[in-house]
Amino acid sequence: PFDWYADRRGASPLHWDPDRGCWDVFSYDEVKRMLGDDETFSVDPRNASGFQPAGDQAFLLETMLFQDPPKHDRTRDVVDEFFRPSAVKSLEPFIAEESRRLVEEALAEREDDVIDVVDALAYPLPVIVIAKLLGVPAEDRDQFKQWSDTIVEGTAGEEEADAADLQQRQMEAGMALANYFRELVADRQENPAEDLVTRIVQADADLNETEILGFCMLLLIAGNITTTNLLTNAVRIFGEEAYWPAAGQRDTAIEEVLRYRAPVQSMTRVAREDLTIDGKRVEAGDTLVCWLGAANRDPAQFADPDTFVPDRRPNQHLGFGYGTHYCLGAPLARLEASVALRELGAEYEVTPAWGDDLDPIDSSFLHGVRSLPVRLD
Ligand code: HEM
Repeated sequence: PFDWYADRRGASPLHWDPDRGCWDVFSYDEVKRMLGDDETFSVDPRNASGFQPAGDQAFLLETMLFQDPPKHDRTRDVVDEFFRPSAVKSLEPFIAEESRRLVEEALAEREDDVIDVVDALAYPLPVIVIAKLLGVPAEDRDQFKQWSDTIVEGTAGEEEADAADLQQRQMEAGMALANYFRELVADRQENPAEDLVTRIVQADADLNETEILGFCMLLLIAGNITTTNLLTNAVRIFGEEAYWPAAGQRDTAIEEVLRYRAPVQSMTRVAREDLTIDGKRVEAGDTLVCWLGAANRDPAQFADPDTFVPDRRPNQHLGFGYGTHYCLGAPLARLEASVALRELGAEYEVTPAWGDDLDPIDSSFLHGVRSLPVRLD
């Protein structure tokens, strides 16, 4: 997409697309302004003219991701503390151990020391971690992961001959997962534990059942495939650049991965009032697609934007968004990426085993590849 962004951005920060019926926004300044101004730009798609609810994801509309303040803040406050860097830090040994185990298991199945980073590590790790955080007992985690995998299958860009069949399976998995959460919630009401589900049920924010379930589902959906792509994109770039970060450089390099190949390329907002931007008339109810991936390569903000600079500082990228909806899970995603890469690099020398034909995920909104073979010596 990067050529398209550069091409468009050069002409104007925003363009109307008559086919999709929305504005595309490409410049760093405009994207940041829109994400930072909830008064003028709503996150709730129900404010868009001609809004049509997409049936299977309707519950997501009841979560913070699609709520404007003040309602948003009430929901987010319930879990904010749980996701602070100091709070997620305690997961570090668990993440390290799981990362090592996943890679060792994948290697044990191979004679040529080549594993697929996506299948072996980047895909399973985030689900395992969020399951642990929520309080899903270890013996249920495989089942939990299967439901979660089915739900994101479409977004992961799997080939699916029979779309109706996939939809059916996703509905069943969604229901199974919702039932599972219902039981977990009921259990934690009786037996509080040190986990996120307990935190959510004990919150004095008067969450109703739909909101509680939406919460659990949101954490699964928002945090999994995104973290998968961050890890995969990091290994891909390090391979392409023939570079592996030393301990002190790792976290800065991960920030540059988030800028250079942002796992989430776009976020959507709805104008609440008529405005004029760059001489163009935006009307109340118009949808604006804010291209984070384009903002992250805007030469007005970043010197040499199309070059991967692992020690780039400052690096105010928008890979986790900006403002009110700035990614709740950012500290967790950063920790997972950092620990998984640390463990991988500590044990092995990682070299690319992929060819010229990387298979991108079939999505304009998520950026990553479906598979990434590497050799581990
Ligand atoms: C919000 C990206 C990982 C939970 C967001 C937003 C972005 C984003 C761009 C802003 C949405 C908006 O402005 O409309 C990412 C990326 C990740 C990642 C690139 C991994 C590399 C996670 C994880 C979790 C999570 C691990 C949770 C376990 C959320 C939630 C929101 C959010 C709940 C909504 C926050 C709000 O509305 O206040 N994420 N995310 N994300 N993310 Fe993440």
